Amino acid sequence: MGSRTGVFITLEGGEGSGKTTQGLRLSEHFRAQGYEVVETREPGGTEAGEVVRDLLLHRVDSLDPRAELALYLASRAQLASEVIRPALERGAAVICDRFGDSSTAYQGGGRDLGIDFVETMNDWATCGVTPDLTFYFDVAPEEGLARREGRAGGTEDLDRMEREALVFHERVRAAYREIAAKHPDRFRVIPTDGGPDEVWARVLAAIADRLVDGKARP
Ligand SMILES: Nc1ncnc2c1ncn2[C@@H]1O[C@H](COP(=O)(O)OP(=O)(O)OP(=O)(O)O)[C@@H](O)[C@H]1O
Ligand SMILES: [Mg+2]
Repeated sequence: MGSRTGVFITLEGGEGSGKTTQGLRLSEHFRAQGYEVVETREPGGTEAGEVVRDLLLHRVDSLDPRAELALYLASRAQLASEVIRPALERGAAVICDRFGDSSTAYQGGGRDLGIDFVETMNDWATCGVTPDLTFYFDVAPEEGLARREGRAGGTEDLDRMEREALVFHERVRAAYREIAAKHPDRFRVIPTDGGPDEVWARVLAAIADRLVDGKARP
């Protein structure tokens, strides 16, 4: 990756799994270590990406799975080239709420386009920008959706992916487990029982295990 010196962390998991809650703590953690912290999200994170996000999550009811994947890839390509790669080259800590593994799980697994195929497309879209460490916050879909509904104003503001049937979310969860088995070095499964403080302790332990001075262990 040439001159890259930053650290790239991604947050993955189902709806209401605690990505945003732990992401805020991660940002504080890296800021306290003296990093410039760049917080971003997918889909979105750029002007073009936010338009794509609105289209994907709120504008249309049904999308062909290939069209859906292509739109996520478009948002990802723009984010990787415009935000993530430059930030890493400056030495920043980039904390991204969802990234390529979300497409691998949702479009590859949930929509059945294939895990290996979507991973290849992710590499193409990002020119190989890959997280140093990925947290997968594991929660049963029913519980995640219940947490999510508890936080927001009921079910009416659920986005297009959240409105999918439970069986879709079970396929997504199974796909995340497959990704975990494929990439045990960077991909860490974090159970989310016990509340945010216990989850944070697990996150810190995974950081200590994977990163030395902000670099992934060789
Ligand atoms: N470990 C946990 N146990 C129980 N509740 C939690 C836990 N972590 C977060 N929560 C609560 O669950 C709700 C969803 O958390 P959060 O918004 O962080 O999840 P998310 O993965 O970012 O969700 P979304 O998919 O909607 O972006 C919030 O009300 C949060 O306070
Ligand atoms: Mg969130």
